Amino acid sequence: DMMKDVSGLKDMEKQVEAVLGISNVIIVSGDSDQYPLVKNEMGLACIREMEHYMNAENIIAVTGGTTLAAVAEMMYPLKKSRDLLFVSGRGGLGEQVENQANTICAKMATKAEGRYRLLHVPDQLSEESYQTLIEEPSIHEVLHLIHSATIVVHGIGDARTMALRRGSSQSLLTKIETGKAVAEAFGYFFDHCGKVIHKVKTIGLQLDNLYDDRTVIAVAGGKSKAKAIKAYFKEGPNSILVTDEGAAREILKL
Ligand code: BG6
Repeated sequence: DMMKDVSGLKDMEKQVEAVLGISNVIIVSGDSDQYPLVKNEMGLACIREMEHYMNAENIIAVTGGTTLAAVAEMMYPLKKSRDLLFVSGRGGLGEQVENQANTICAKMATKAEGRYRLLHVPDQLSEESYQTLIEEPSIHEVLHLIHSATIVVHGIGDARTMALRRGSSQSLLTKIETGKAVAEAFGYFFDHCGKVIHKVKTIGLQLDNLYDDRTVIAVAGGKSKAKAIKAYFKEGPNSILVTDEGAAREILKL
């Protein structure tokens, strides 16, 4: 019955917390690999966590991906007496426009009845463009907001899936293969020990930003992401993880 199901997931949350070494895991039922609507349930669970950790003034940095797009899809007015500023943690990422951080950020903010600031830069940059762009006052300002974020919400992906989806070069694909990268998050590729194998030269959210004092919510589910989630949290920050049963069961099996 229903109550049993719920307490079953509660048990599983505790087990996954222990395996990943993090203090807050939320599991929704189902497997988003099989049923895409499960992503919307993760989206809702994520919004509830966001609400829980909100103060009077909030700067919320978001990344891209289909899972974050589901968070935006499910968003509802959160304004009440709170100040909400959403900021894109990433520029364009060679992703389809509906999966880009900027699109997701604007949609989330509009539905939550908050404000937003976007990051209008390509995601992958040469060293020279990076140095020039970072000095640009409008970009500098957005970067400052990202660094001041009180809440960060991001996705986690399977390394190879993400590299292919972003149309990465053959040399990057080779590097990922030889380095045995299994996880990807905001442009960083990690092996099964959580070691960074490659980092895309990018303006925006950096891994270091997640270790500072702020609320970090990772949203990732589906059996196919279990390895990636486990690898990411080997060295990853003590984030809140919103996931699904498909990923959770597999994490416990690995
Ligand atoms: C990207 C994020 O846009 O989405 C990554 O920057 C993440 O951190 C990826 O790995 C996940 O995508 P999806 O579609 O599986 O939610």
